[in-house]
Amino acid sequence: MTSLNLKTNIKGLNGKITIPGDKSISHRSVMFGSIAHGETKVTNFLPGEDCLSTISCFRKLGVTIDETDNQLRIIGKGFDGLTEPTEVLDVGNSGTTIRLLMGILAGRPFFSSLVGDESIGKRPMTRVTNPLTEMGARIDGRKNGSFTPISLRGGGLQPINYRLPVASAQVKSAIILAGLQAEGQSTIIEPEETRDHTERMIIRFGGEIHKDNQKIIVKGGQKLTGTTIQVPGDISSAAFFLVAGAIIPESEIVLKDVGLNPTRTGIIEVMKKMGASLEIVQNDKESFEPSGDLIIKTSKLKGIVIEGDLIPKLIDEIPIIALLATQAEGTTIIKDAEELKVKETNRIDTVVQELKELGAKIEATEDGMIIYGKSVLSGGTVSSHGDHRIGMMLAIAALLCQSEAKLENPEAISVSYPNFFEHLNSLIK
Ligand code: S3P
Repeated sequence: MTSLNLKTNIKGLNGKITIPGDKSISHRSVMFGSIAHGETKVTNFLPGEDCLSTISCFRKLGVTIDETDNQLRIIGKGFDGLTEPTEVLDVGNSGTTIRLLMGILAGRPFFSSLVGDESIGKRPMTRVTNPLTEMGARIDGRKNGSFTPISLRGGGLQPINYRLPVASAQVKSAIILAGLQAEGQSTIIEPEETRDHTERMIIRFGGEIHKDNQKIIVKGGQKLTGTTIQVPGDISSAAFFLVAGAIIPESEIVLKDVGLNPTRTGIIEVMKKMGASLEIVQNDKESFEPSGDLIIKTSKLKGIVIEGDLIPKLIDEIPIIALLATQAEGTTIIKDAEELKVKETNRIDTVVQELKELGAKIEATEDGMIIYGKSVLSGGTVSSHGDHRIGMMLAIAALLCQSEAKLENPEAISVSYPNFFEHLNSLIK
């Protein structure tokens, strides 16, 4: 583990950056390309470690995937073309890889075993293994099937009618992927709307899925066909620069080609409500995922309450929203966000601990946090705790620090944004 001296006390972030490909869509492009029939070509694929873990797992399942310069060529042979892996499937740090992969493997009549890193070993898997077991998959794992390592023998799935106990796109997607292989029609009900990239992909790959508010209906036995996928920029990565532009004096940043799927744009709603000077220029080219350019300028911000069905639309942005709130006048309250406790780290604890270290006034609550603005950030030694989004949030926080700031374990950032520091440095005058 290394540590990095961060840039501090900056004035003015100016320029244009093209945000790297969306992580959620990149994972799904590999998965759908692998279970479809024929060739799939992907452009602007995110070469982050999480997505590379997905590629490596599907190669072990017998799929040919060529990767050059953020472009993929995948030769899919349908669900039936996947073959029993001779090695364990290692998902690294990636919750999306393991949970969606289990949905696919649940329908495959062979044995596989799944492992991941230390963080994955702490993340709850019963939210996925319970419904998949109910559909007929045989799954076991550490602590009565709750945690990795997990073993799975799939095949012969029955459809399911399932109300999700948590608003989770990973769980929803795992059941949809299993449902595509079941004998009959499955119905899934989400407590709150979550990101719908899986549903959009099914349609893009020529399949069928129906949505009626929070109710999703998917038929089994569908045949998907290979296609082309242009991955838009990741709004969750753009979020770091949106906040940086808003809180650093004398800034103006243009973020090109950012995904603007309405199930992901909670950060934009929040920033506008807080008073950010943020302009959106929607792309008019037709695409299965909407996108556009975002222009952010230094802003005068005020505290707000963030809660309820907005939370799933910005769940990954809460660490950077917490930093934003430290620079707003008044108090910001984030509630209904207990899911933060089971992300790559317990993000209520890691955000509060590390921002406090830098001098922010912030308190943890049972389901979120309370942030008192406006804080002067001093400096200090902070840690990513191995969590990419905590690492990037702290690097942005440091820009405001009055004295030295050091980040331990900055490597974690390559999980979702390998060229983050290159982009950040390009904006500093
Ligand atoms: C994701 C869903 C969310 C999100 C994660 C990516 C996805 O997780 O936090 O980064 O691609 O489906 P949950 O489903 O656990 O909320």
